[in-house]
Amino acid sequence: MEKSDLLAQFKQTAGKVIKCRAAVAWEPKKPLDVCEIEVQPPKKGEVRIKIFANALCHTDIYTLDGHDPEGLFPCILGHEATGIVESVGEGVTSVQPGDIVIPCYTPECREHDCVFCQNPNTNLCPKIRAFQGKGVMPDGTSRFSKDGKTIYHFMGCSSFSEYTVVAEISCAKINPYADVNKMCLLGCGISTGWGAVFNNCKVKPNSTVVVFGLGAVGLAVVQAAKEAGARFIVGVDLNSNKFELAKKLGAHECVNPTQIGDKSIKDYLLGIEKWGYDYTFDCTGNVKVMRDALELAHRGFGESCIIGVAAAGHEIATRPFQLVAGRVWKGTAFGGWKSRTEVPQLVAKVMRGETTLDPYISHFFKGIEKVNETIDALHSGECIRAVLQISEREPVEAPKVTTVSSHRHFNGYVKRMKHFSKVNNCEMQFSIYIPDRKGRTDKLPPVLYYLSGLTCTDENALVKSGYAYFASKYGLAVVFPDTSPRGCNIEGETDTWTFGAGAGWYVNATTDKWKKNYNMYTYINEELPELINSLFPVDGTNVSIMGHSMGGHGALISYLKNPGKFKSVSALAPICNPTETEMGKKAFEGYLGSVEAGKQYDAVELLKTYNGPKLPILVDQGTADNFIKDLKPEALDEVCAKVNHPLKLRYQPNYDHSYFFVATFIGDHIEHHAKALGL
Ligand SMILES: NC(=O)c1ccc[n+]([C@@H]2O[C@H](COP(=O)([O-])OP(=O)(O)OC[C@H]3O[C@@H](n4cnc5c(N)ncnc54)[C@H](O)[C@@H]3O)[C@@H](O)[C@H]2O)c1
Ligand SMILES: [Zn+2]
Ligand SMILES: [Zn+2]
Repeated sequence: MEKSDLLAQFKQTAGKVIKCRAAVAWEPKKPLDVCEIEVQPPKKGEVRIKIFANALCHTDIYTLDGHDPEGLFPCILGHEATGIVESVGEGVTSVQPGDIVIPCYTPECREHDCVFCQNPNTNLCPKIRAFQGKGVMPDGTSRFSKDGKTIYHFMGCSSFSEYTVVAEISCAKINPYADVNKMCLLGCGISTGWGAVFNNCKVKPNSTVVVFGLGAVGLAVVQAAKEAGARFIVGVDLNSNKFELAKKLGAHECVNPTQIGDKSIKDYLLGIEKWGYDYTFDCTGNVKVMRDALELAHRGFGESCIIGVAAAGHEIATRPFQLVAGRVWKGTAFGGWKSRTEVPQLVAKVMRGETTLDPYISHFFKGIEKVNETIDALHSGECIRAVLQISEREPVEAPKVTTVSSHRHFNGYVKRMKHFSKVNNCEMQFSIYIPDRKGRTDKLPPVLYYLSGLTCTDENALVKSGYAYFASKYGLAVVFPDTSPRGCNIEGETDTWTFGAGAGWYVNATTDKWKKNYNMYTYINEELPELINSLFPVDGTNVSIMGHSMGGHGALISYLKNPGKFKSVSALAPICNPTETEMGKKAFEGYLGSVEAGKQYDAVELLKTYNGPKLPILVDQGTADNFIKDLKPEALDEVCAKVNHPLKLRYQPNYDHSYFFVATFIGDHIEHHAKALGL
């Protein structure tokens, strides 16, 4: 079924009871019963979701096995899932039918008087906690029933069902191109392991780490500890089958407590690091393990984090002196992630290829009737995560993006990416600098697009302009697109430096020869920003543009053709009036069939009729620039004066057209944009 057909079908079911299949846990310790149930429409502040995939977490089993004091039966388990919004209840604004979501058992209400949502140090929003614990929705009733008999919700998710209802504040909207059979893992276990490392313990580089329990959660701790730069990671599990994967994900050593002779695991591990380990994690739920983990934390400053959920009635114990001696005992719920805000960012991180979920999926079953097989798999000891596909999603044509290179640079990352451009019908390359945020919950950085000049690729300005010091100082992301499509096998594509490859002129070609591939205007103004906004941690609503030479022309026309879209604009030695120059005329004749048609891409021409909000244009121009007759800054000056458009044109004595000139003034330009972007 096409997506639009699915949306049409959703319109039919909205507001009505849906009969569908679900795996019902009628009572503890019994196999799940796949049967037809009724799912009520969502009420105020609720969302009904058609579930695609659900991975089984140990916490489901813990409840099914009757260990959970809060466990209510009959219920529908499942809380690691992906789905698509079918319909929404009254007042729901953050998601709409068709959105791809991960239901999150830790909600995020974001209300101004929620002391938890407003505090960057916790994710424990209590808004619907009481109802969640009672297996009902916030109005005190359940949306599930079978033949009139109420079935309870579980952890606010209940995703072992073809349809479920959750609170809007539990619904994390993720990238629509995300692989739904994979991303369900981010609904609980893997996110929890990663967050315990990054958020709760903030594991430092060069530290030592012990992880007890190498299920999905423990393995995620290992994977994240490696990413955080730990120097020595030990995995501990009673099941040695887990060691191979633990080592692959970053463990330096693995030990099985049943295979070390008479030694206790504690003595064994203290035999390696005599004062203990900087960080220890319990991912087993066993209170004895929790004690060992605490006592293995480094004397003076070691931290031990409880992740495992202990069975009802079990308590932790240690001698108080263990804490007196400086050890810290802490825990995590869902890795501390603020669900609606941060789960989509984890999805994007996986999609950018910076981390992977693939190794965790050891079993994949199709069809809800296979639900008990996922449980058997988890019990078998062979399984890390068993994903159950509950309904198949129609294939979506996701943008294919790959990372060519990634480097740490000025307190951030610079990445070179390749992707298939639909508008240019070819593979394109771009680079992006993303500064770190000081705090996880700080605002996302705004974006500056830097368009380069003739013959350049995305790389020239990246390495020669000296932008990064300033971008880092202000906390600004910078995107460097290429200057044209390349390798399209168009005759004459590489014949001259002013036309064809390296010289896209930021126009949409209309001539037969070029129109299939040379559509840089739409690429820069639509396709690329859409891709960047969905994949990178940036604020795509807060954007500015600048450029050098032909890129200066690109920046000026992008601003003038999209009133209100950019917060600021600037240019270094821009081509201001291309329809009046030989190289501009040649380019427009080639791409558009006439010079006249080029007027819609000529800044001086566009300024004559521009009637949007007037941003002050900053332009620097060297007086020793060999190309000055093709740039025509005087024409820009004249038209701005005539139409009363603010322009700060600075002639810089004896500077030429090179990157020595660009690097000299880039700081002023970035400051100009940073101010406009509110930095
Ligand atoms: N705090 C949270 O937010 C949160 C989130 C998800 C899961 N959990 C809990 O985390 C724990 C791990 O979840 P999972 O899905 O990875 O479970 P899992 O069953 O896949 O893995 C647990 C692993 O621990 C090992 N183990 C058991 N007892 C052990 C012992 N005494 N010493 C060493 N290893 C031992 C098992 O062999 C297994 O490999 C569970 O208790 C789960 O309920 C907590
Ligand atoms: Zn879980
Ligand atoms: Zn809240």
